[in-house]
Formats: sequence, C-alpha cells, structure tokens
Amino acid sequence: MAKKLWGARFKKEPNRDFFEFQSSIHYDYKLAQYDIYHSLIHVSALREAGILNEEEEKKLIAGLLELLRDIADNKFKPDLNSEDIHTDIQNKIEEKVGKPAYKLHSLRSRNEQIVFDEKLYCSQQGSILADLVRKVLSSLEFLAQKYGDSYFVGYTHTQRAQVLLFREYSLAFISMLGRDLRRLDNFMDSLWIYIGAGALAGTSIPKKAYNQAIKKSLTFLKEVGKGIGVAKSALDNVSSRDFIVEFLSILAIIQMHLSRLASDFILYSTKEFDFLDLPQEFCTGSSLMPHKKNPDFLELVRGYTGIIYGNLFSLLTLMKGLNLSYNRDMQLDKQALFSSVDIVKKELQLMADFLKKVSLKKENINRVLEDEYLYATELAEFLVYKGVPFQEAHQIVGRLIKYSEEKKVKIKDMPESLLKKFHQEFSSEVLKKILSPEYAISVKKSTFSKASSRNLRKK
Ligand code: ARG
Repeated sequence: MAKKLWGARFKKEPNRDFFEFQSSIHYDYKLAQYDIYHSLIHVSALREAGILNEEEEKKLIAGLLELLRDIADNKFKPDLNSEDIHTDIQNKIEEKVGKPAYKLHSLRSRNEQIVFDEKLYCSQQGSILADLVRKVLSSLEFLAQKYGDSYFVGYTHTQRAQVLLFREYSLAFISMLGRDLRRLDNFMDSLWIYIGAGALAGTSIPKKAYNQAIKKSLTFLKEVGKGIGVAKSALDNVSSRDFIVEFLSILAIIQMHLSRLASDFILYSTKEFDFLDLPQEFCTGSSLMPHKKNPDFLELVRGYTGIIYGNLFSLLTLMKGLNLSYNRDMQLDKQALFSSVDIVKKELQLMADFLKKVSLKKENINRVLEDEYLYATELAEFLVYKGVPFQEAHQIVGRLIKYSEEKKVKIKDMPESLLKKFHQEFSSEVLKKILSPEYAISVKKSTFSKASSRNLRKK
C-alpha cells in the first residue's frame, strides 16, 4: 500500500483486500495528464492566494512539467499500490521536489480533481472521435462517388420496395453520421470545466486568484483547447456526471448507426442478396467449412452495441437517486466511459478503412431490378398524373399485381387488350417505359438522385 492522502484519524490500517477493492489506480491512471493540468492551475492559485512562495511555486511547476514530459515520453509508470491517480501524482511530486509538495494539496479535494480530469478526457477524446467520424464520412463519400450512379434496391420491412441510386443509399448513412458529428461538436462546445469547488462547498481561495491562475495557465490550456472557469455551483460541480451521460449517449447513437450499417452490409453480402463484396481483409474463415468467408468485423460492430448501450445504462443507473454531493459510487463511472470511448474509436477507425474496400456487385443488383413490382408505386403515380384519384390508382395497380402473381405472367408480357382492362391509359409501350429503373429514378424530383455526388453533406 503506497502513501495515502488520508489516514491519521484511523486506529487501524485498511483491510488489504478492501483497499484493493476500493482503489482505482488500475484504470484512472489514464487521467494522469489531466490531473497534472489541474495541479498546474491549482499551484498558481495557491501562489496568488499567498499560500505558496515563489520558490515553492517554481519547484512544484517544474516537477509537474517533468511528469508531463514523462507521460509524453511514455516513461510514466503508475504505482499500482497507490489508491488512485491523484495520490500517485502527489507521491511522485513528493519524490521529485520534496517539501514543497506537502503544500500541493492545500484547499483542494479529489472530488474537484476527478471531475476536472474526466471533463478534459471527454473533451480530448471527443475531438479524436469527431476526426474518426469525419474519416468514416469521407469513406462513405468515396463509395458514393464510386458507385453513386449505380442502382440499388430499397427495402421497407426487409421486403423489396423501390429503386434507389446507390448515392441515395450512402447519403442515408452520411446524414446519420453527419448528425453524430454535430452532436459531438455541440457536446464539446458546451462542456465547461471548473476549478475551485473544493470537496463540495468551495474554498477560501478568492475567485480572483483562481481567475489569475487560469490566465497564467493559458498556454497549456490552449493546448487542451477547453474553456475553464471557477465553479459557479461547487455543489453541482462535484455532484454531476450528466456530461458523461451525454457523451455516452452520443456514443450510443453513433453505435446504433454503425450497427445498422453493419446489419445492412451483412445482409447484402449473403449469397441470397449478393449485392456487396466485402473486403477479405476484414473477414474470417471457418475451422471446419472450407468455403466460408464470414463478415466478422461487421458482426462484432453489431455485437458491441450491447456493451455500448450497457455502458450508458450503467452510468444512468449509477447516478439515479444518488444523494448530493460526491459519493464513492461515482468512481465506477470511469470504466463505462473508457470502454465506450475505446470501442467506438476502434470501430470507426476500422470502418473508415473497411468501407473504402467494399465493392458493389452491379450485375446481381440489376437482376433484382427486373422485379416489376419494384415499380408498382411509379405505375400508380403515373395514373395520378392522368387524373386518377390515388386511392383508385392504388387499387388498379394492386389488381394488376394480383393478376400477374396468380397467373404467373409478367406485366410486360400481358397483351395490350388485357392491360387496357385495368386502365385505358395503360399500353405495352407505356408500361415498358415505366417498369424500369431509369424511369423510376427520373421521376424522383424531391431527392438527391440527380444531384452531383460531390458535396453530399451540404444541405
Ligand atoms: N477515485 C475517486 C473517483 O474516481 C476520486 C474521488 C475520490 N474522492 C473521495 N472523496 N474519496 O471518483
């Protein structure tokens, strides 16, 4: 057990197993860098408040910067016998600078440090995630460019519905992820980081001193790229984790979108559909069946949804009904947060690469486009433009489909006299024209069908 930040009031040492049970160093070490940023501002605030002299301030800052360099050089090794990252950094600073370190923790609490650290983590990871979403978007745009003018089959209820251009199909996912990107940007914009909350009730350091300290720290704060201020409500600051709930919700929505894309691609790559060829580099084989090429990447993306949604629910449940202010329960927010961030980052990174290598099997899609029922809607709309009320047009085409199905005869092969019985505007020539993907796409005026596939994301 390494040196702790507390203990004098106890007659007994903590039970060893309990100490391990309650310590968080084996996961919160990830927050080391952010915790040092907190200390840097705090040291300046202590100096402003006259608690540290110039010499002590200098030594502490130098020690903290040295630790930051160790992290950057991958030399920082957390002592797993420490209770948490805050304690570990305190102990390391003591080792480096000696006596002035005893003043480092003056008038602050781990309660304000942890929320500061977590906010910076969310902010930095948020921008990494946003970059990765942008990468996936550009891969989708690449696909949309490559196959934009190819036809694709649109489904509702997983039943053939209407013809689309592949560009429109891609645009659906581009739109979803575009909104995710906006959500991430809004989240990062509204995330405000506070210092000076103390344990829960604020501290005796004047606001002015904190503000001066923040100003002094602007160089590294800029690097962090976040707005930092003095807590308006100290109590709220140490009590709340809604920013993590929000972040995990955004990750859950991204995950939902990725899993829908994964499901679609799994379905379309089956022999039954055979619309897509998945890159072999992202598939695996079977140990028994020599022919198998399984879409494991997509299946795992879909499968991770349980964990990502679970992480969100775990935090919502953790925070439900918690009395104000800080409770140790809240320590358990971190594994859910780190897990979701790590998984979604990996998925996005792989997805960006995967998508670029997917290819469209146009011949198979074109074969499906011979299904005349895909154009039933266009046929009904043709009648509408001839003045037939839609309800009637719907029934006429419905009867035509029923006849074709029962008699097993293609509409295009029906004699003109028979077609005329359904409606006098029907003729072989007209039907031949309407029952085609070219026509179906050409009459779509409200969509992007004919727009250039460039600038798909622009409104
Ligand atoms: N390890 C704690 C957490 O992650 C840090 C705050 C501890 N505060 C305390 N009073 N024990 O939430």
